Amino acid sequence: MSLSLRVAAIGLFFSFSLYLLGEKVEGNFFPYGVASGDPTSNSVIIWSRIESALPSLNVNYEMALDPSFKQMIKKGTVNTSLERDYTLKTDVQGLEPATIYYYRWSWNGHYSPTGRTKTLPLQAKSIRIALASCQHYGAGFYTAYRYIAQDNPDFILHVGDWIYEFPVYATTCARPDPVGIAVDLNSYRAKHRLYRTDPDLQEALRNIPLMAIWDDHEVQNDYAGTALYFYNRERMRAAYTAYFEYLPVREQKEWKLYRSFKIGNLLELFLTDGRQYREEDIGHPATHPSLEDLLQVSAPGRSMLGAEQRNWLLHSLKSTQSLWKFVASGDMMMEIKRDGKPLNLDQWDGFEWERKQILSSIQQNKIKNVVVLSGDSHIFSFGKLIIDGEQVATEIGTAGISSPAGKIADKEELLKQNPHVIFTDTDHRGYVLLDISSEGIDVCFYGLNTVLNPEAQRILLKKFHIPVSS
Ligand SMILES: [Fe+2]
Repeated sequence: MSLSLRVAAIGLFFSFSLYLLGEKVEGNFFPYGVASGDPTSNSVIIWSRIESALPSLNVNYEMALDPSFKQMIKKGTVNTSLERDYTLKTDVQGLEPATIYYYRWSWNGHYSPTGRTKTLPLQAKSIRIALASCQHYGAGFYTAYRYIAQDNPDFILHVGDWIYEFPVYATTCARPDPVGIAVDLNSYRAKHRLYRTDPDLQEALRNIPLMAIWDDHEVQNDYAGTALYFYNRERMRAAYTAYFEYLPVREQKEWKLYRSFKIGNLLELFLTDGRQYREEDIGHPATHPSLEDLLQVSAPGRSMLGAEQRNWLLHSLKSTQSLWKFVASGDMMMEIKRDGKPLNLDQWDGFEWERKQILSSIQQNKIKNVVVLSGDSHIFSFGKLIIDGEQVATEIGTAGISSPAGKIADKEELLKQNPHVIFTDTDHRGYVLLDISSEGIDVCFYGLNTVLNPEAQRILLKKFHIPVSS
């Protein structure tokens, strides 16, 4: 070994020893930034991850009304360890409604970046939501999040495909994904870490709280929870464990993810889980369904949500006092047909019976102002959810942050064959911005001119106004 190498090795050993002893050493201990999520009117989840070689350590957090932490509100300590991949997460309680808070984590004199978050109001005149989904790291840069941060929404609503379990699309690779295919706890964690290195995503999460649900790629393409539970339970558990470690979502019992948020009398948001309790898809979604397949999609009782979640959703939609009712769904609910047959049975088109239960209940109970917010399709869409010829809800679909459009490429054909779809854009990635008030909703579909480099320009593709219905 040369002298310089020996000196470097001794230096590394010395730093590492101090590190183990808990002494202060230089370096970025919070390289994945900070995040907050699931705000209510009096609580919010805060998140980070610390780099450490200790088996277990206590990390402090502080929350204040100002970014210089002079008006301190809360202080606490969270224990983390190798067991939970050094992720940090706590539910800060006892906060005031509609208030901006600043927070940071610290260990042994090392501070995380300062995060900013906001609790939900008890009463609201208006609320702004950025709708996001589908962020394949290899397929593109997350420039959309830079524009989302500039729009300063009250929160980001992410409707799934936060990570993709497989690396890159061969033809549209924007950046390498060294993790490869995630199959176990270590590789799902590595995937979450990789995705969180994107500076635009980090900055948006540092400034704006997140509400998230998963779709399929947080685990495996097009999986159905009830089937995967039997043939690869370990993989499902590994993916769910990593998701709950890395996302600032509130933890409930037994991996339960569906939940709701009430924003005064203006809006109640129902976040659904379309994967965990799903029955297996019929046929292969990429192939055209047979006549036999089509009979099965309408089989009574066939479910994407599972009976318990479906009953919760139907009951909640009926009983809410809020003016607007938003249903966040990983998959598109509108019928999408090509040559008279459903295009993708992995979407709600594969669960015809259950979709009918939901739409009929909205119709029969005269529930007004229902909006479904969906992802998965990788195209922008705006259209009507119809039952017995009557529109009972509106659907807004987002194309996603970076994942390319696959099956639906011909926009003109899609509109011609599906007249309930009022608008679609299959050419751009981006997000949807919603400004909600008691008068109506302004919906802006924002696309990016490219996701192949991080300096993309934002384009307003289309704007809609949904008037309130009385
Ligand atoms: Fe996706």
